[in-house]
Amino acid sequence: MSRPDGTVAFVTGATRGIGLAIVQQLAREGYFVVGSATTAEGAERLTQTLADKGLGVVMRLQDQGSIDGAFAAMANGPGTPLVLVNNAGITRDNVMLRMREEQWLDVIDTNVNGLYRVTKPALRSMLKARWGRIVNVSSVVARMGNPGQSNYVSSKAAIEGFTRSLAHELASRNITVNAVAPGFVDTDMTGELTDDQTAAMLARVPLGRMASPQDIASAVAFLAGDGAGYITGETLHVNGGLGMF
Ligand SMILES: NC(=O)c1ccc[n+]([C@@H]2O[C@H](COP(=O)([O-])OP(=O)(O)OC[C@H]3O[C@@H](n4cnc5c(N)ncnc54)[C@H](OP(=O)(O)O)[C@@H]3O)[C@@H](O)[C@H]2O)c1
Repeated sequence: MSRPDGTVAFVTGATRGIGLAIVQQLAREGYFVVGSATTAEGAERLTQTLADKGLGVVMRLQDQGSIDGAFAAMANGPGTPLVLVNNAGITRDNVMLRMREEQWLDVIDTNVNGLYRVTKPALRSMLKARWGRIVNVSSVVARMGNPGQSNYVSSKAAIEGFTRSLAHELASRNITVNAVAPGFVDTDMTGELTDDQTAAMLARVPLGRMASPQDIASAVAFLAGDGAGYITGETLHVNGGLGMF
């Protein structure tokens, strides 16, 4: 069964980096795209960027009220989403010995509890339509591990387990649930690395370059599209060969 006409796609964390590339790709592919920002200014910017192909809403993963508000805005506007891309995520890096409880809890609450808070309200309309696509953005480090990121790596490993469990639960309703695991992507998140750190990291990437946000958006759009209808519970690695598992 192919994508229903007028399908709304909801992408979290769409103001910049990977999320912005995803909303632009999905808009080009004919979805009506709703992207989230943490601020009203960010949401307004998205609405202007997407023009008649989508809009921005305010939503913070730690705040269920703001998530409910975003879903209400979709229900009262373009309609509830049949495609959900759980892209937003944060890092709070520190080695374990120095990691403050607040750093641990921030990442787990945002990246893992936030996944629960956003995905649950998205399910009703997908179950009713007997069609849906959920794509969760993980990371190569979920498999590789990474020093200084035990909180973030734990959250990404949880996302991949969540993906497989939900894929089992929803398969009979023709809803697929997959993950995309990027390697190093040229965004604000990696912009904090020093030149030496970037060079050391690139030396480990067989393709010899960082991913562009578009490289990741193409994989997400594939998993959301008709060509991926028989793929579920899978994690698609997009890492230039950094992790050949
Ligand atoms: N960059 C990489 O190398 C890389 C590698 C592997 C995986 N990833 C994953 O890819 C995803 C996107 O990464 P990115 O590099 O594009 O990130 P980014 O450039 O840091 O952008 C983060 C996005 O998430 C939003 N956001 C931040 N905190 C949020 C919160 N508490 N609630 C809701 N939205 C929030 C931001 O909105 P505002 O602009 O309003 O703050 C922004 O739109 C993340 O899940 C990340 O873990 C990234």
